[in-house]
Amino acid sequence: MAQNIYDRPEFFAGYSGMRRSVHGLDGAAEWPAVRALLPDLTGKRVVDLGCGFGWFSRFAMAQGAASVFGLDISEKMIARARADTDDAAVTYEIADLEHLKLAEASYDFAHSSLALHYIEDFAGLVASMHRALLPGSHFVFTIEHPIFMAPTHPAWSTDAEGRRIWPLDRYSVEGARTTDWLAKGVVKQHRKLGTTLNTLIAAGFAIRHVEEWSPNDRELRDNPDWAEELDRPMFLLIAVQR
Ligand SMILES: C[S@@+](CC[C@H](N)C(=O)[O-])C[C@H]1O[C@@H](n2cnc3c(N)ncnc32)[C@H](O)[C@@H]1O
Repeated sequence: MAQNIYDRPEFFAGYSGMRRSVHGLDGAAEWPAVRALLPDLTGKRVVDLGCGFGWFSRFAMAQGAASVFGLDISEKMIARARADTDDAAVTYEIADLEHLKLAEASYDFAHSSLALHYIEDFAGLVASMHRALLPGSHFVFTIEHPIFMAPTHPAWSTDAEGRRIWPLDRYSVEGARTTDWLAKGVVKQHRKLGTTLNTLIAAGFAIRHVEEWSPNDRELRDNPDWAEELDRPMFLLIAVQR
């Protein structure tokens, strides 16, 4: 049974106050890099896995998508997505991605932002996504980078100059990792970078782009606190093609 942490009141309140929850895609540091990976969405039937508040779903419609199907396990996230979306071509459903069931060959593009590191059966999800996409379709997703997911707890220590040190802990031991972030006992599924890529290849996807995101000089000047992204990548961006 998948954990539904976003429906916990303290977690939801904390997440709702985050920059990306208040400002949407423009409030997400990695968004310009994600956007650069997207194909032309005109006329596309899009599926958004772990759609949250529906920011990407609405963006896809604004880019000319034919329809968007957004799925998320959290009732609270879906409730706000529905409240914020006024478009009959966007459908939201409360669903657990651990048991993803999509109609075969029904979508031309798949997207997921920061949701798939919660999924234990990643291979099952990827196989299901491969069946649901038409040949040639792109699948662009982000997850927490496994280097970010695998530090000891608490996540960092500090050196003599006050710089954070991010120690890796059993990087090669895959499986559930529990952290306290916004709420106690948040469970994420740690996978090595190679496992994620090989799972996609084994399912029949061609890898088009892999990015271990870090800010460019301008982004760093504008957001000095992003400097810790140079110490350890937090976001992993992957684009594959069916
Ligand atoms: C970090 S939020 C990202 C939301 C949205 N994709 C965005 O970027 O704004 C992660 C989302 O994944 C959803 N999620 C986590 N586990 C899930 C599961 N097993 N099935 C469906 N959704 C899940 C959460 O409820 C949450 O809305």
